[in-house]
Parts: sequence; structure tokens; C-alpha cells
Amino acid sequence: MKGVVLHGGLGTRLRPLTYAGPKQLIPVANKPISQYVVEDLRDSGIKEIAIIVGETFPELVKQHYRDGSHLGVKISYVYQEKPLGIAHAVGLCKDFVGDEDFVVYLGDNLLQRGIKKYVEDFKSSDADAMILLKEVDDPRRFGVAEFDEKGNLVRLVEKPKKPPSKYAVIGIYMFKPIIFDAIATLKPSWRGEYEITDAIQTLIDWGRKVEYRIIDGWWFDTGKKDDVLQVNAVILDERIDRRVEGRIENSRIDGRVMVDRDAEIINSHIRGPAIIGAGAKIIDSYVGPYTSIGNGVYLTNSSIEYSIVMDNAYIEGVNRISDSLIGRNAKILKSDDNKPFIRFSVSDFSEIQL
Ligand code: TTP
Repeated sequence: MKGVVLHGGLGTRLRPLTYAGPKQLIPVANKPISQYVVEDLRDSGIKEIAIIVGETFPELVKQHYRDGSHLGVKISYVYQEKPLGIAHAVGLCKDFVGDEDFVVYLGDNLLQRGIKKYVEDFKSSDADAMILLKEVDDPRRFGVAEFDEKGNLVRLVEKPKKPPSKYAVIGIYMFKPIIFDAIATLKPSWRGEYEITDAIQTLIDWGRKVEYRIIDGWWFDTGKKDDVLQVNAVILDERIDRRVEGRIENSRIDGRVMVDRDAEIINSHIRGPAIIGAGAKIIDSYVGPYTSIGNGVYLTNSSIEYSIVMDNAYIEGVNRISDSLIGRNAKILKSDDNKPFIRFSVSDFSEIQL
């Protein structure tokens, strides 16, 4: 089986970070979101992967994943000129897929328990497609599954006002190459996109076998800032063990904290779960639970919790930072010249709450 990872899209809901890189490369616990996806495919036995890149900094994606050998996979790239929808992106992979079965994995989706058992189920079934469903509180924001009285999947409805069930379609799909025939018949939806739910519906309408599995454990679609922070907290909570490298001086480190090599923690208190990246300097500061501090970050005289600080950001003299996503090389500091005003130099679509 082959894998297709969607790494395009505009990521408008994650501006301004997506002015500097694709949202799928935003780090949670100091690792890009899409790397969890690539590793999940690899751990499910899928080693040949196409990454679909779009207009948003495709070169950064290639820089990170290269040929994939450092992650134990073989990666090639497919370029999607315009974000015309998930089905459009999948359609561009026809040559890559050839006559094999394949998994499509949205590069911003994360599953607690991975996809291995579903991949095995699909391999041993004769289904033309398999989708994964998750019970959600408010299905109106998702593609939703409708079943007949025997529990067969009969319809998929995009963002219904009156949902036919509580089961949302999540961003992982398994297909036989017949899906390319269905995609070729699609017309753009009301929002101008080629919808993957329409392609799957076409298979159902053709009488093809479309199966589903209901997943247990958490699933996140990291489309917005709050989702990213929540995933960061959950990953830190479940996957970070205590490992302290670097130089620790006159500091307290409580709980599951990972301090990477060459980091320096001086006169500070770190309370896990948290991660401190390589070469970061934490001086006279407090880092509270659910915080990821990137490589080369400089944090002094400050306190922060439930946040992500990306590589080489600089924070000085700022207390009570919480629920924040701070981009690479960003600078936040308290001025010491006692001027009665505050000064900003922020990019378009930035948000500051004082
Ligand atoms: P979305 O989150 O629906 O779209 P988006 O990335 O454009 O974000 P926003 O709504 O904030 O502008 O996309 C789901 C996933 O599919 C995401 O990983 C991006 C990817 N994608 C593509 O690769 N190509 C596409 O044409 C589209 C629409 C999405």
C-alpha cells in the first residue's frame, strides 16, 4: 500500500503563522504536526509516500522531509497549484498510486492510537474504500455519515444543518484506484472545491463497497490555534518522558520534562509536562505545564504556560503568558525606558490580547 499526505491548503485560520510556513509544519512538542502523520504511515507498514504541497512554502516542506530516508520512508512530492479541494489533491496522485491500494492522510490530522489496525482491516477486506468515523458532540461542522437500519453507510453529507448521525468523517481515507474514476466525474461544490465526500458518495451510488470503522481514542484536526494548543497539551501529556540533558543550574524541574541537549536552565522552575528544545536558554523564569519551548529560544525574567514558543523566539520580562502560539524569531519584551505607551511591530492578522 502507498500513502498520500495532504500538505497544501492556505491555512487561513492559522494566520499569521501560515504567512511564514504551512500549518502542517507547526510544531507540537517540538515536532511538526505532519511528521506525526508520516510516522503513523510508516509504523503502519506504508513506506512509499507522496506529499502534496501547495502554494504555502512548499520549499519548507521539502527541506524538512527531503527524500524521507531519515524517517525510514521514501518520499516524493506532488505539486497542487491551487487549493481546489481534497479530491482535487488526491486526483493529482494517480500516477504515483498506479494500481495499488492507498491511504490518504490529511497532514493536519492526528489520531491517538494511529491507523495500523484500520490499514490491516482494509488490506484484508474487498472494500473499494474505507473511511474512519468519530462520534462528535456537534456534527454540523463536519462531513457526517448516514446509515440505513442495518448500519450500512448510505450517504455522506457535508456540514449538515440537521445531522443524520453524530458520526463525523475524519481526515484519513483508504482507497482502491477506482476512486480516481469517481474523482474524474466530480463538479466543484458550492464552495468551489472538489470534495472527497462527493467522490466517496459517487462510489456508494455506483454500488461499490464503502466500509467504515468507528475510531476510539482522540482525534484532532488542527485547523485553529486552540486545536494546536490542545494537541500540544495532549501529546506532551501522553508521549513525553522525563529526560534532562543540557545544563541545569540552581533550578527546579518537576515532573515529566524533556530538556534537550545544550539547553541551559538557570535560576528557573520548569513544571511538566513540558519540553525545552536544543540550545534554548531559560533564565530567571517559570515554564508551566503544557508548554513547548523550541530550539534556540531565549526566555528570561518571564513566566509562561500552556503555550508553544517556536525556534529562536526571544521573550524578556513578560509575565503570565498563557494560551499563546509564538512564531519563530518573534520578539516579546518589556521595555525598560519607562515610556508611558506600548509599542508593536506585528504582521497582518496577528492577534494580541493585553
Ligand atoms: P482545510 O483545513 O479544510 O483547508 P485549509 O488548509 O485551506 O485551511 P483554512 O480553512 O484555514 O484556510 O484542509 C484540510 C487539509 O487538506 C489540510 O491539511 C490542507 C489540505 N488541503 C490540500 O492539501 N489541498 C486542498 O486543496 C485543500 C482544500 C486542503
